[in-house]
Amino acid sequence: MLSDQTCLVTGASRGIGRGIAEELGAHGASVAVNYRSSETEAYEVVDVIEDAGGQAIAVQGNVADYDDVHGMCGRIHDAFGPADVLVNNAGITIDKKFENMTRDDWDTVMDVNLGGVFNCTHCLYDDLRQSDQGRLINISSVVGQQGNYGQANYATTKSGLFGFTRTIALELAASGTTANCVAPGFVLTDMLETVPERVKEKILDRIPLNRFATVDDVAGLVRFLASEDSGYMTGQILAVNGGMEW
Ligand SMILES: NC(=O)c1ccc[n+]([C@@H]2O[C@H](COP(=O)([O-])OP(=O)(O)OC[C@H]3O[C@@H](n4cnc5c(N)ncnc54)[C@H](OP(=O)(O)O)[C@@H]3O)[C@@H](O)[C@H]2O)c1
Repeated sequence: MLSDQTCLVTGASRGIGRGIAEELGAHGASVAVNYRSSETEAYEVVDVIEDAGGQAIAVQGNVADYDDVHGMCGRIHDAFGPADVLVNNAGITIDKKFENMTRDDWDTVMDVNLGGVFNCTHCLYDDLRQSDQGRLINISSVVGQQGNYGQANYATTKSGLFGFTRTIALELAASGTTANCVAPGFVLTDMLETVPERVKEKILDRIPLNRFATVDDVAGLVRFLASEDSGYMTGQILAVNGGMEW
């Protein structure tokens, strides 16, 4: 159980983040459900957690904006006190072959997928370090391990999380707080919906378990990483990808 844990899950209004927020809430955590624009969906997640007997608040904020994140962390402090668990999940894609990618396409994905991780980790760093069971969990991707056609910007951000996680794990180690990275394969969410059907069929051919991941496949691992049971694991990259090689 995570009953004494306050958790921020970024990008928790939909998809993987939503699944993680509901899973942590169902196991007793107090959950801050971050969203950028999907307000109705974020409040639905709060309702699901509260209906199951848990505690949650919705916190609007663009993770790419440091001031937004700072304000959001203040609202979490007011509601629940210092955070114990940060799940850096919010992420976007702007897919194009590199020859067609603009500097703006590159910067936009960097600002959310890596800038957002900097902002949230920086604003909650003291909380995590001082927690008795501090946990930093970064959501990367198999694409950061393998690369993927049309995703030079996205793949770069997801690989970047490996170096970030390992470094922060070293810097946090003296405090007992851990930092780990989850690298999901292809998960059935809105993000995958943007991929053309013929490309999805090709991806499926490369997955030994012969199915896409569900949100629950990822959320269960994140719950374990947030728990006391994972206390001796840090600096790790954990793949949940149906057996895809990399
Ligand atoms: N789906 C996959 O196959 C897959 C595989 C591996 C890894 N991942 C990673 O898993 C994470 C979640 O992916 P997903 O498939 O669940 O995505 P999704 O369904 O597109 O949901 C994205 C979530 O991120 C939020 N978000 C986007 N930009 C934001 C910003 N600037 N500030 C705050 N929140 C923001 C969205 O909130 P709003 O709706 O309010 O904008 C939404 O809640 C991402 O980091 C992604 O890279 C996904």
